[in-house]
Amino acid sequence: MTTTIGSTLAGLKSKMETREARIGIVGMGYVGLPLALLFSGERFRVTGFDIEAAKVSTLNGGGSYIVRILPAEIREAQKAGFRATADYSEIAQMDAVIICVPTPLNEYHEPDLSYVTGTVKSIAPHIHKGQLIVLESTTYPGTTEEVVVPLLESGNPQGLKVARAEGENGVYVAFSPEREDPGNDTVARHDIPKVVGGCSPFAAELAGAMYSSIFRRVVPVSSPSAAEMTKLLENIYRCVNIALVNELKQLCLRMDIDIHEVIDAAKTKPFGFQAFYPGPGLGGHCIPIDPFYLSWKARQFDFRTRFIELAGEVNVAMPYFVIDQIAAGLNEHAKSIKGSKVLVLGLAYKRDIDDLRESPSLTIIELLREKGAIVAYNDPFFAKVGRGRHYDLNMSNTPLDNIGDFDAVVIVTDHTAYDYKAIVEQSKLVIDTRNATKGIQSEKIVRC
Ligand SMILES: NC(=O)c1ccc[n+]([C@@H]2O[C@H](COP(=O)([O-])OP(=O)(O)OC[C@H]3O[C@@H](n4cnc5c(N)ncnc54)[C@H](O)[C@@H]3O)[C@@H](O)[C@H]2O)c1
Repeated sequence: MTTTIGSTLAGLKSKMETREARIGIVGMGYVGLPLALLFSGERFRVTGFDIEAAKVSTLNGGGSYIVRILPAEIREAQKAGFRATADYSEIAQMDAVIICVPTPLNEYHEPDLSYVTGTVKSIAPHIHKGQLIVLESTTYPGTTEEVVVPLLESGNPQGLKVARAEGENGVYVAFSPEREDPGNDTVARHDIPKVVGGCSPFAAELAGAMYSSIFRRVVPVSSPSAAEMTKLLENIYRCVNIALVNELKQLCLRMDIDIHEVIDAAKTKPFGFQAFYPGPGLGGHCIPIDPFYLSWKARQFDFRTRFIELAGEVNVAMPYFVIDQIAAGLNEHAKSIKGSKVLVLGLAYKRDIDDLRESPSLTIIELLREKGAIVAYNDPFFAKVGRGRHYDLNMSNTPLDNIGDFDAVVIVTDHTAYDYKAIVEQSKLVIDTRNATKGIQSEKIVRC
């Protein structure tokens, strides 16, 4: 065997540069599918792996199941060789494999790495020497080295190891966090710098070469753990700051001060302040979940992450605060929640997206139902809502034709498609948790 790791690396790097490298992306969800399209846009031949047969057949039929991704974009990618499969044996044909599967919490609020471990066990038998494997799923520091590497090494019949030093043949492994902000079109995806930490300098270099073909800037860090921690720092920073404004909002309401006016004034400071906005509670796959990956890991080091716990406490309480505000608003009309007709506007966890994971709307609807309200929802992105990991609603979208029939309309998600002036005019009572009615003067509005 004459191949040295140096020549293997150079060969792979050159395949990246010439776009001959075949890229496999595991998990065709909100992260993996857009990533596949970015690589396809750069003329890479991409194969998307997913265990959901319906997703595989939709993609192969030139369709899309994510609202902001048009079928035309899938068909364009197909011209560059994009296709989807559920057959892991095709991993063997890939030069690089990027893992973008879910990392939720289990019922005890602990990391559920079952999707990551399931994926790694499935791909391990098919990996080959010189292949690059990158984990992108958000997770606690140590996952790549402590979970992914051992499963890759024990799961392949060739006895392949993760390459650590020059001259050592094996697979290259790295972690690179995803930084997408769905619905935010102010920064193009390729302008978001890509952080990469490799299990060896070679792995980092190779992953950097791959990502620099689609991202303008790659930021190397010294290890996968540093890259894993970087992602968590970013999300914990958001979580803690949102909790801070959520708490201050409640104080401002008591003091009759408009928190939004205060934030707008504070953000004119050209340094040392970044604006975060209060809301009805945290939603999405990242901010309500990721911080707990770190608190869980910290326990292994006899360490309590008090900021994370406090922020969690404040943010988790927000939907309950909204319920109190609805009760107070109805009370002014001599009504109770029990028996009232309540319309929830917006199911998605944030504006203009079709994702309702961990959305505070779901908790608010469940709490209202528990208290005896007759609840309906409107959301242009969801014709129906059935059952998820943490909810079972079984509801259909209610058109906005007769909102005057409802005792209260609760703005939980401030989609831009809504005509807030008309909504206020036609409603009896509006509970606005997002400052969506800013500038509209009406006694019917409860801002909270
Ligand atoms: N959505 C975001 O905005 C965002 C942003 C940054 C980071 N992340 C992180 O990226 C990761 C993926 O998130 P997402 O939003 O894309 O999740 P998602 O649920 O939208 O997509 C995950 C996909 O993986 C598939 N899958 C699950 N197990 C599989 C397996 N064993 N083999 C093949 N496919 C499998 C699922 O069918 C699904 O299509 C998570 O760790 C998340 O925290 C998400």
